[in-house]
Amino acid sequence: MTEKTPQTKSAMWGGRFAEGPAEAMQRFNASIDEDKRLAMEDIDGSIAHAAMLGGQGIITADEAETLIDGLETVRGEIKTGHFTWKLELEDVHMNVESRLREVVGDVAGKLHTGRSRNDQVATDIRLYTRRALDQMVEMVRQVQKAFLDQAKGHEETVMPGFTHLQIAQPISYAFYCLAYVEMFERDRLRLLGVRELLNESPLGAAALAGTPHPINREQTAKALGFDRPCRNALDAVSARDFVLDTVAVASLCATHISRYAEEVVIYATPQFGYFRVGDAYSTGSSIMPQKRNPDAAELLRAKVGSIAGAFTTLTLCTKGLPLAYSKDLQDTKKPMMDALDTLGMSLDILARMIDSTTINAAAMERDASRGYSTATDLADQLAAAGTPFRDAHHIVGALVAYCEKNDLMLHEVPLSDAVKISPRINQDMLDRLTPLASICAKRSAGSTAPEEVLKQIAFWEDALA
Ligand code: ARG
Repeated sequence: MTEKTPQTKSAMWGGRFAEGPAEAMQRFNASIDEDKRLAMEDIDGSIAHAAMLGGQGIITADEAETLIDGLETVRGEIKTGHFTWKLELEDVHMNVESRLREVVGDVAGKLHTGRSRNDQVATDIRLYTRRALDQMVEMVRQVQKAFLDQAKGHEETVMPGFTHLQIAQPISYAFYCLAYVEMFERDRLRLLGVRELLNESPLGAAALAGTPHPINREQTAKALGFDRPCRNALDAVSARDFVLDTVAVASLCATHISRYAEEVVIYATPQFGYFRVGDAYSTGSSIMPQKRNPDAAELLRAKVGSIAGAFTTLTLCTKGLPLAYSKDLQDTKKPMMDALDTLGMSLDILARMIDSTTINAAAMERDASRGYSTATDLADQLAAAGTPFRDAHHIVGALVAYCEKNDLMLHEVPLSDAVKISPRINQDMLDRLTPLASICAKRSAGSTAPEEVLKQIAFWEDALA
C-alpha cells in the first residue's frame, strides 16, 4: 500500500522527530470523537491547575489570570460550536492547549508545567464519570418513584405471585412494585459506592513519577470537588478500574431493567392481560391492525447486551497492561461513554413507561385465585390449629387433587366433602382461602400483608422524597 505523504510534525511533541505521523496513523491514533465530550472537564481541570500554578508562584498571578481567561474563552467557543477540532492535534488536551495559544499567545505554553496528558486524561475521565454517576443515581431514583407511585393505593389489589412462573401465592400489586424499588435501591447504592471510590484526584501525578515543581495537589483536588489527591502517582495515571466498576454496576442495573421488562412483555400479552403500557410507549404492526406491541419493554430487555458487552470489552482492553500509562487506556473511553448513554436512556424510558402503565385488577385477581394459590394458607391454618405442618401439607395436597378432579377452586369445596379428606378442616378455614384473605392473613415483617406494605410505602415516601 502506498503511504500518504507524512504530515507536518506535531507542534506539541514533534521536537525529536524528523517527520510527522502518517495520515492513517493520525486517524488511528486520535481520540477526538470521545474527547469532545470531555472538553468541559478538561477545561475545568486546566483552570484548577492554572490557578494552583499561580497560587504557588510557579507562574505569575498575571499569567495565571491570562490562562484562566483564555480557557474560559475557549470554553465559550466549544459550547457555542465555534471551535474547530483538529484531528492532527490528536485529543482534547492538545486541541484546547493549541487554541489557547492562539487566544493568549506563548504564555499558553506554561499551562502544562507540572502535569502531563496522562494525569490530565485520568482527571478528565474521573470528572466525567462522576457527573454521569450522579445523573444515573438521580435517574434510578426516578424509576423508584415511578414504581412507588404505581404501588400507592394497591395494598389490597391482588395478583398472583409466581415461582418458576407458576402461580404460587397471592400478593398485592403494591408489594410487587415495592420489590423493584428495593432492587433498584441496591443499584443506586452501588452507583454511589463507585462514585466514592473514584473521587480522588490524579492531577499532579504528571507522567507517572510526580514533578519537581512545587505544585499543590490538595488545592487542585479540592477545586475539582475530589475528596483528596490520589496517594500514588504511578497508580493515579494507570488506574481505570473505576471505569470497569462503573460499567459493571451499569451492567447489573441493566440486568435489573431487563427483568422488569420481561415481566411487562409477559403481563401485557392478551393471555395475561395484567398490564397495559400507554400508547406513547407501545407500537403497532405494519400488517396486523390489532397488534399492540411492547417494543419499549423489549428494547429495555435487550440493552443489557451492549452494556455487559462493554464490560467485556473493557476487561480485555485493560487485561495485562503494565504500569503505568499505555495508549490502550485511550480505548476505555468509548465503551464506557456508550454504556452510560445506553443506561441513561434506558432508565429514562423505563420511568416513563412505568408511569404510562395501567393495570387490569380483574385479570390479576382472576389469576390470583387460580392454580390453588391459597393451598399454603389452608395448610398454615391447619398447622396453627395444631396439625403438624408436614401432615397439613399432605391433607391439603389430597384436597387439591380432589379439586382438580372436580374442577373446583379450594374455597368452593363443600365442607361435607372436605371433612372426608380431613375432619380437621372447618368452614371458617375454607372461607379464608380467597386471595384477599390470604394476603391479609400474613403476619410477618416484610410480608405482602396490607399493613406491612403500608409501612414499606411510608418508608419509601420518606426515603425518595
Ligand atoms: N489521548 C490520550 C488518551 O485518551 C491522552 C493521553 C496521552 N498520553 C500519552 N502519553 N500519549 O488516553
